[in-house]
Amino acid sequence: MNTINTFNENSQGDILIVDDIPENLQLLFTMLSEQGYDVRRVLSGKQALQAAQYDPPDLILLDIKMPEMDGYEVCQKLKSTPETQNIPVIFLSALNDTFDKVKAFEVGGNDYITKPFQLPEVLIRVKNQLELLKAKQALQEKNNELKALNQELESFSYSVAHDLKNPLTNILGFTDILKNKYEKILDQKALHFLNIIHNSGLQMKDIIEDLLRLSQVKYLEMNIEDVNLSELVENSFKGLQNNQNERLIALNINSNIRAKGDHNLLKIALENFCHNAWKYTKYKDITQIEFGLIPPEQQPQIFLEKSENLPIYFIKDNGVGFEMEEAKNLFIPFNRLHDKNQFEGTGIGLSIVFRIIERHHGKIWYDSKVNQGTTFYFTINC
Ligand SMILES: Nc1ncnc2c1ncn2[C@@H]1O[C@H](COP(=O)(O)OP(=O)(O)O)[C@@H](O)[C@H]1O
Ligand SMILES: [Mg+2]
Repeated sequence: MNTINTFNENSQGDILIVDDIPENLQLLFTMLSEQGYDVRRVLSGKQALQAAQYDPPDLILLDIKMPEMDGYEVCQKLKSTPETQNIPVIFLSALNDTFDKVKAFEVGGNDYITKPFQLPEVLIRVKNQLELLKAKQALQEKNNELKALNQELESFSYSVAHDLKNPLTNILGFTDILKNKYEKILDQKALHFLNIIHNSGLQMKDIIEDLLRLSQVKYLEMNIEDVNLSELVENSFKGLQNNQNERLIALNINSNIRAKGDHNLLKIALENFCHNAWKYTKYKDITQIEFGLIPPEQQPQIFLEKSENLPIYFIKDNGVGFEMEEAKNLFIPFNRLHDKNQFEGTGIGLSIVFRIIERHHGKIWYDSKVNQGTTFYFTINC
């Protein structure tokens, strides 16, 4: 992890000055010490690297022209070492030296000062870099906090979902028994209530299973192999059609579309896409669904930017669609755009898909028109 060294609260900042000319060092040393900085001095690039490694300072003032190892090289080495790469570097260059500003920034320098120094300028530039560093540290701390909180929340919802499973199995099992065994004893009203309980339990089961899948998908170990996506799509629709064979459906699955990825995860992702395509077309006289691939050379410009020259996979349906403006949070759990009385569901499926595509370093997006249909696009980069 690229940690930023924590700032010593009691000091204005710990500064390392590197210059092969002792007089230069003395001047800066006095100037900065008077301002309340802790200042260390070294006379060569090699010493600088050692000092920075041993006890990373908050800021380095680095002379360019030095024998053996010049400032550019020192900077490059600092920036390629994890322990020192986040230390800001201000280059010191003499006016009569040939100073290559571009190179100074290229090797990772943060700023530069030209000699002879003007005191206020040095102080302002030093202060700026230290303030920037403090802001970065604060941001990183917040980020770490957020990550930890997220992880906590994730494992919390996992265990809750997991623990809810057993009592729910009881509810479903016993309502089932009541319905079947005591049907004759119970009156219509009681049976009706029982059905409501049972159906709610089933709905809860779906949510719990989706929630568990959602957290599993993030941590399951991936096994990258060549996967036949067309086959996965075909199998998924076979299952769906078997359950509802009265529906008229025109399926167009381009054959042998393949991708490098994790078979199990891609199966889950495609099943979710297929279920959605199937579900959100259920009021159509004829359902039309297409699964295909757009190679980079056939992609319109707006897609090329997203796809980064990778093939785009797509699944297209002619279902109810949705307003694009309302679909901003589609990949966040529990976001649903349709009425649950018309289309059952948990609102978790697409967030599972999103995580799977994310784990395959791909992108996912969609296009939809109300009552005309929806297309989901994605790329995979494994
Ligand atoms: N093919 C589609 N056509 C129209 N709307 C869709 C389609 N796929 C997803 N949606 C919308 O996105 C929402 C989130 O999808 P998803 O996470 O799979 O949840 P759900 O359990 O509701 O299917 C759905 O509730 C629906 O409003
Ligand atoms: Mg769904």
